[in-house]
Parts: sequence; structure tokens; C-alpha cells
Amino acid sequence: MNIIIDCDPGVDDALAILTAAKQPELNILAITSVSGNLPGEITYKNAKLLAQAAGLSCPVGRGADQPLVKEARNAGVTHGSDGLGGHAIELAAYEKPYEVLDAVEVLKEQLLASDEKVVLVVLGPMTNIALLFQKYPEVKDKIEKISFMGGSLCGGNANTYGEFNIYVDPEAAGIVIESGIPMIMAGLDVTLKAFVTKDDLKVWEDLGNPIAAFAAHCCLHYGSHDPALHDPCSILVLTHPELFTTMLGKLSVCCDEGDHRGETYLNPVSKSDICTILQNVDRKAFIGHITEALKQY
Ligand code: BDR
Ligand code: CA
Repeated sequence: MNIIIDCDPGVDDALAILTAAKQPELNILAITSVSGNLPGEITYKNAKLLAQAAGLSCPVGRGADQPLVKEARNAGVTHGSDGLGGHAIELAAYEKPYEVLDAVEVLKEQLLASDEKVVLVVLGPMTNIALLFQKYPEVKDKIEKISFMGGSLCGGNANTYGEFNIYVDPEAAGIVIESGIPMIMAGLDVTLKAFVTKDDLKVWEDLGNPIAAFAAHCCLHYGSHDPALHDPCSILVLTHPELFTTMLGKLSVCCDEGDHRGETYLNPVSKSDICTILQNVDRKAFIGHITEALKQY
């Protein structure tokens, strides 16, 4: 399966990239970054560093610094000031010089060049994908589906109803979610159940390789605030769908000001159930697959 990962690393984005790189079924064509958890300069640096640490040679594009309409909003202390729980330094040995590429151009080039349709995995605010659709609408035909972390049917984590990724750029999310492309939504409904425990982190630490140790260390920082491994859900649902229970629906996004800004809700009048909404996860098996991936470093 050819995939492109658009992300805002971010501790759980880091875990998603490290896990994805070790799934034999996945061929990662590119990684693109966006402002989200941290400003765009830092999420780009981290995306590049993680690609290098994961042994990927794919292009990494730098994306939007601002949402489509509002000012940028970042996640504060949750991911640490370096976005990787204060542990980016542990990956310094993997860093190589690089040329900065533009995310929208990377997305367009990789989609058009792919022989088969591509799965987009979107792990941050959807700004880059909305910009891509506005500039190059023809690429939509090359996208098989979009597996995204974002949204919630059970209340928000950024305001009363809005989940962070959607809340930061609901205008972009509206463009993407209502594009007609089939979606898989890993919202807070499922991702809050995909948490990592201190015992799991001890297992990773004991694997005896620097990448697994890095994963344990950055999750330990992150875990004290938000132990959910949101973003890896959008990767593992592609390779291990049996981990999840799902329902079908058609989503809409609220862009109004106030408590409902960024809310995702089921559209009751739509006849097209084109979004698969993840509901439950087998947490132990989910963490087991991440552990298997980390073992391979
Ligand atoms: C989402 O927001 C970010 O903080 C995480 O990386 C995840 O993508 C969870 O609401
Ligand atoms: Ca993210």
C-alpha cells in the first residue's frame, strides 16, 4: 500500500512514523509537516529527523505555518518545547543535511507519479491537504482514502466539542472531510482508549536499542499529560484493521465561533456513509504491534 504521512511531530506523530516505517505492507512515498503541536519550523525539523532515524529515504516536505483563516495555535507543554518530549537530542546522531522541499509540491508530485492510488495519512491540522485540493484538484483522483487522526463524537480536548487537529483549522478540515474521498476517522472516541502505560514503556526501554529507548523517553514526558497514542491508530488501522471496531457515517465540521468550533458531527441527512469511524481498540494488541515495530530498530 502506497501511503503519504502528513503530520505535526509531536510525540504521538513520532510513534506513528516509527511504527509505519516497520510495517512491511506500507510503502511510504513521502512525509509532509504542518504547524500544529509546535510551530511549523519545529514540526518540519522533527519530521525530517524522524524520517532519517526510521531509515526512510523518501522526500520530506515543509508545509503550512498558519491555518487557512485563523492564527496558528500550538499544543503548549504537552509535547515539550522540542516537540519530542525534550528528547529530540537522542536522535541527533541520525541527522543529515537536507534540502527544504515544499509540502504541497511534494504531495502533488508523489500522488501524480504513483502507479496505484495512494492512502493519505493525516495526523495534524488538515491545512496542507486543503491547500493541495485548492491548488491541484486533479490529485483527488489519485487518493484511495484518507486515514486521519482528528475529531470526536464524544467531546473535545481543545474546547468543549473540538478535538485539537480539527479545532486548529476547521475550515481546512471541512474542505478535506467533505471532499467526497472515503475517510477513516481515528477520533478521540477511539484514541483515548489507545493509551500507553508505564509498564509498556519499561518494555520498550528494555528492548535495548536507541530508537525504542527514545520512544519510551518521549512518551514518559507526554504520558504525564496525555498518555493516549492518538496518531498510531491511523497507521495501524491500515495494516491491522482487526484491532478496531467501527461504525459508518458521513461527517461534517462546525466552523462557527464558540464551544462548537472544530466539532465533528454525523450528518443525519446524508445518504452516503463514506466515513469509517473507529470506536474501540484492543489496546494490548495495539501496543504489541508498536512494540514489534520498535524491536526492529
Ligand atoms: C492530536 O493532537 C495532537 O496533539 C496529537 O499529535 C494528535 O494528533 C490529538 O488531539
Ligand atoms: Ca499529531
